[in-house]
Amino acid sequence: MKVLVTGATGSVGSAIVSKLVAEGHKVCGGSRHAAQPGRLPAGAEGMVLDFDQPATFGPALAGAEAVVLVAPPGDTQADVKMIPFIDLALGAGATTFVLISAMGIEFAPDSTLGKLEAYLAARAPRYTFLRPTFFMQNLSTGFFAQAFAYGGLRYNAAEGKVGFISTDDIAAVAAAALASPAHHGQAYPLTGPEALDHHQVVAAINRAAGTRFTYTPLSDAQMRQEMLATGMPAESAEFFVNLFAGVAQGHSAAVLPTVQAITGRAPISFEQFAQANAHHWQRMALAKQAAA
Ligand SMILES: NC(=O)c1ccc[n+]([C@@H]2O[C@H](COP(=O)([O-])OP(=O)(O)OC[C@H]3O[C@@H](n4cnc5c(N)ncnc54)[C@H](OP(=O)(O)O)[C@@H]3O)[C@@H](O)[C@H]2O)c1
Repeated sequence: MKVLVTGATGSVGSAIVSKLVAEGHKVCGGSRHAAQPGRLPAGAEGMVLDFDQPATFGPALAGAEAVVLVAPPGDTQADVKMIPFIDLALGAGATTFVLISAMGIEFAPDSTLGKLEAYLAARAPRYTFLRPTFFMQNLSTGFFAQAFAYGGLRYNAAEGKVGFISTDDIAAVAAAALASPAHHGQAYPLTGPEALDHHQVVAAINRAAGTRFTYTPLSDAQMRQEMLATGMPAESAEFFVNLFAGVAQGHSAAVLPTVQAITGRAPISFEQFAQANAHHWQRMALAKQAAA
């Protein structure tokens, strides 16, 4: 099957591309930077795709029977931009869609991802929604990793726990969803095998990498102030304050059997993930030393 994966240079998109290539699919990876050498996992064809540039949609979709949709994170207009892309995909003959949604989206139908779910559910011949919790990769290569170059994590998450999931497990579920009609019409909440607070997460990273990072719990007001001080727009800062306040209240502590049930194997633990990714944090510890 020819599959187009959007967001293919990002945390979850690149994991999905790697998994589908390994399974023998013909994979196209779409992103604004997909044509740059080394941005995509080996074995995939890079297709320039920019949801702000509709002229890129047709060429990216050429021949795709299935589309894995990864919305640009934090873009509150992503649904408006991606719906014409979905329409074009349907018109061009794509039949199967996997949307990377988010845990709890069923309580936020007016959110970007909620609207994309509703649009696909009403029109796509086959669709599966994956609703993962926080990615482990946020802390190694993703948005939150840079905090380690400044000594560690600082959130208003208190001692709230998170069932962190590896994007490799999300990719395994995405591959299963494409492979079997049994997953069509389903929405799967996805977590890792255990819930950890951020003290435990940083301790696992320090054990694996030999580092001395810390987690500092902040009040909501401190968190807001620190995010705004980085130059972050107020709307985004408020999003993160609310996100981690929800963690503090225990909203992300669920641990679910979905990954095991769909893939037949236990999801990756944070300890395993930390061991495999120690080099990222060792590099950031060196960056901190160099800046001191
Ligand atoms: N991170 C989490 O913990 C988490 C949890 C639940 C759900 N999610 C959802 O998962 C999705 C992906 O998250 P992620 O952490 O993998 O994000 P990420 O690592 O930041 O990757 C985002 C991807 O989107 C692409 N992109 C950005 N703007 C684009 C545009 N205008 N047109 C086309 N492509 C664009 C980027 O590629 P280029 O820059 O090369 O264009 C990149 O490949 C998001 O929708 C997020 O809401 C994330």
